Amino acid sequence: MKLLITGATGLVGKKLVTLLLQKGHSVHYLSTSKVKIQSLSNYKGFYWDIKKGTIDKECIEGVDVIVHLAGASIAKRWTKEYKKEILKSRVHSANLLYTLLKEQTHTVKHFVSASGTAIYPESIDGVYDETTIEKEKSFLSNVVQEWEQAADLFSQLGVKVCKLRTGVVLDRKEGALPEMAKPIQMGVGASMGKGTQIQSWIHIEDLVQMYSFVIDHQLEGVYNAVSPNPVSNAVLTRAIAKVLRRPLFLPNIPRFVMDLILGEMDYLLFSSKNLASYKIQKEGFVFQFPNIDSALEKIYK
Ligand SMILES: NC(=O)c1ccc[n+]([C@@H]2O[C@H](COP(=O)([O-])OP(=O)(O)OC[C@H]3O[C@@H](n4cnc5c(N)ncnc54)[C@H](OP(=O)(O)O)[C@@H]3O)[C@@H](O)[C@H]2O)c1
Repeated sequence: MKLLITGATGLVGKKLVTLLLQKGHSVHYLSTSKVKIQSLSNYKGFYWDIKKGTIDKECIEGVDVIVHLAGASIAKRWTKEYKKEILKSRVHSANLLYTLLKEQTHTVKHFVSASGTAIYPESIDGVYDETTIEKEKSFLSNVVQEWEQAADLFSQLGVKVCKLRTGVVLDRKEGALPEMAKPIQMGVGASMGKGTQIQSWIHIEDLVQMYSFVIDHQLEGVYNAVSPNPVSNAVLTRAIAKVLRRPLFLPNIPRFVMDLILGEMDYLLFSSKNLASYKIQKEGFVFQFPNIDSALEKIYK
């Protein structure tokens, strides 16, 4: 099978490419950075400039599945300008691919897009699943809604569409976990606010296996890409401290302090998303790391 991956050079993309190549697939990828473009027999890069609306049309040749992971990081200060970048890097990029498929003969049958959990309402006790209609009213929720709408357009071309609403991805070197672990390693770790906010997380290996599963089974619709056991911020903080063998003695950090430091982006630390994973499990997907302690053990040992 030949796949075209956007954002292939990021945290999820790199691990997914490794798995797909191991399984004998061939990968084309689109990059916004010319220096990241390589041309090997089974791993071939193509350049696109989303702002200018240009794309190397050859990227689509012989492709069966598109995996759309590209997007500007949400972990940079949310200025007015940067918020536009967060949105456009996900939506305009999907639109660029849609136009390419519309205008050109192609062999694409499946479009699998990353998506986010911000679309769901805040919740501590109640668990939300993919049937939830209610949407959170926030900047990031709006981004997710527009991102999913851009993905859904592909169904008009007869292409199956699948969206993975991804929780906090846990990896040792990249993403949120190293940022959470840093103060704990330095002995100044603490929970955020009340610490009761729920964090729906997923181990990076489970996430890339889930992408592969969705592709193999040609799944359509929305799936939560979160482990079956979400935890509170306090439990997560304690679990990281335990695996790193560091003490936690500082009081919780009040939200107004983080708001002063991060501004609106403090949402990432304080929003509470309690999400179910049973839809993908009912399809037959088995999590290797369903519990936070074993996931962190695997990551750090
Ligand atoms: N990691 C998480 O915890 C998490 C959670 C929920 C959802 N997600 C979503 O899953 C997707 C993959 O996540 P990730 O952690 O692998 O992201 P990542 O490490 O930040 O990588 C994203 C990739 O997108 C491309 N990119 C960066 N800025 C861009 C821009 N302005 N315009 C177009 N492309 C740009 C880059 O590839 P090039 O430089 O090659 O163009 C980059 O390697 C993202 O859409 C992310 O929002 C991630």
